[in-house]
Amino acid sequence: MQSARRAQRRVQRAPHLKVLWLGGASPPRCWRHPPQVPPHRPGRGPLPALARGAAAVRRAAAPRRPRPAALSSGSLLSPPAAPGSAMGNVPSAVKHCLSYQQLLREHLWIGDSVAGALDPAQESSQFSGLPEYVKIVEVGPRDGLQNEKVIVPTDIKIEFINQLSQTGLSVIEVTSFVSSRWVPQMADHTEVMKGIHQHPGVRYPVLTPNLQGFHRAVAAGATEISVFGAASESFSKKNINCSIEESMEKFEEVVKSARHMNIPARGYVSCALGCPYEGGITTQKVTEVSKRLYGMGCYEISLGDTIGVGTPGSMRRMLESVMKEIPPSALAVHCHDTYGQALANILTALQMGINVVDSAVAGLGGCPYAKGASGNVATEDLIYMLHGLGLHTGVNLYKVMEAGDFICKAVNKSTNSKVAQASFKARLERICD
Ligand code: HMG
Ligand code: MG
Repeated sequence: MQSARRAQRRVQRAPHLKVLWLGGASPPRCWRHPPQVPPHRPGRGPLPALARGAAAVRRAAAPRRPRPAALSSGSLLSPPAAPGSAMGNVPSAVKHCLSYQQLLREHLWIGDSVAGALDPAQESSQFSGLPEYVKIVEVGPRDGLQNEKVIVPTDIKIEFINQLSQTGLSVIEVTSFVSSRWVPQMADHTEVMKGIHQHPGVRYPVLTPNLQGFHRAVAAGATEISVFGAASESFSKKNINCSIEESMEKFEEVVKSARHMNIPARGYVSCALGCPYEGGITTQKVTEVSKRLYGMGCYEISLGDTIGVGTPGSMRRMLESVMKEIPPSALAVHCHDTYGQALANILTALQMGINVVDSAVAGLGGCPYAKGASGNVATEDLIYMLHGLGLHTGVNLYKVMEAGDFICKAVNKSTNSKVAQASFKARLERICD
């Protein structure tokens, strides 16, 4: 009874919670830690409960921007079933927690949820030049795992990729056909490639450093490949044991063979914002290498901040240079998050017209040959930001979090994703309450 009164007082203090509370005589105890409403933005005034309600009504009445056809239908985009349904004879305490989990799910599912109280359309109008739709290239199974010291069992990798395939992601980088002496974690590339269930509408590229890797990838059933170069001589030598010029010759062969077989090829440029061995890298060098890869037939160039030293300023300068030679529609950014700048750098890139972003679930990853590299930007955090900006991704954040949870447990690590950490914390506190 006391706890019910406490909870009611809390609801009085935070009236918007009433909107969230979907049943029961009193608010459940687990609401001690309600989902956070996005913070107040200067100049816009706080959003009182009524104004939020009005915003929700306006949103419901307003014509919706069309979602991309392939992604707009299907269960991934449908909001989950109403809390309380199909719960049968579950004790009420459990129902409350299930409802809370459901609410968390909806809270994170910005767009149709209460958390969408900050109107995404209003939100995006604050930023100029943002694309309507952002394609996420999930690199978790490759970049995310390649740096793990303990070898992840092949069936776990396959299950991880199968889970990712059900999230709405349209590109999942699966593995790399590199030397197992160089990257032991990727030694099971063929088994992984052959073992996954390929969903229609999802692409599964793999890394191929040379013709040998390319032929093995094709034999394993790969239908899209990536070559990976660098804008730093020292990094190129350390990572693929050859100079930039030598690497370009190898990549020419690979991309030419791929084109003959109608296999799309993507090109990476590592060290686009700094090198672990050389420090600063000139924008001219990044542009030169990108142009080479684009010129040989790579349909997309992913610009890698391999060690996460970039800032919005250096990202802008680098992109301004590269975009003189390559259209933004053929560029992607790949940001590691060493100094917590990845999302800011990505936002800068989006504002400059880029609409393809690489990320790894749970923020795992890093190149084993990039001293000091930390994980990639977490897919969960990226989606949270993109949905908050009102941009479409076609990806279900909750399902991505489940995949992140799965792989983190498998590699015995905690997630680097802030969004996932917050959610786990809320769940833990509820359990321990
Ligand atoms: P190498 O030792 O110079 O190769 O390695 P080699 O041509 O001299 O051959 C030596 C041996 O390797 C031979 O075997 C070859 O058959 C074998 P042996 O006769 O001695 O038994 N070999 C291969 N085996 C399997 N697959 C192959 C292959 N090629 C040769 N494809 C090599 C050159 C490129 C193979 C090596 O340096 C390598 O595998 N490097 C990969 C490094 C790597 O995977 N790094 C991580 C990915 S890059 C990254 O993470 C950055 C990115 O995320 C973007 C960013 O963040 O910036 C993409
Ligand atoms: Mg990387």
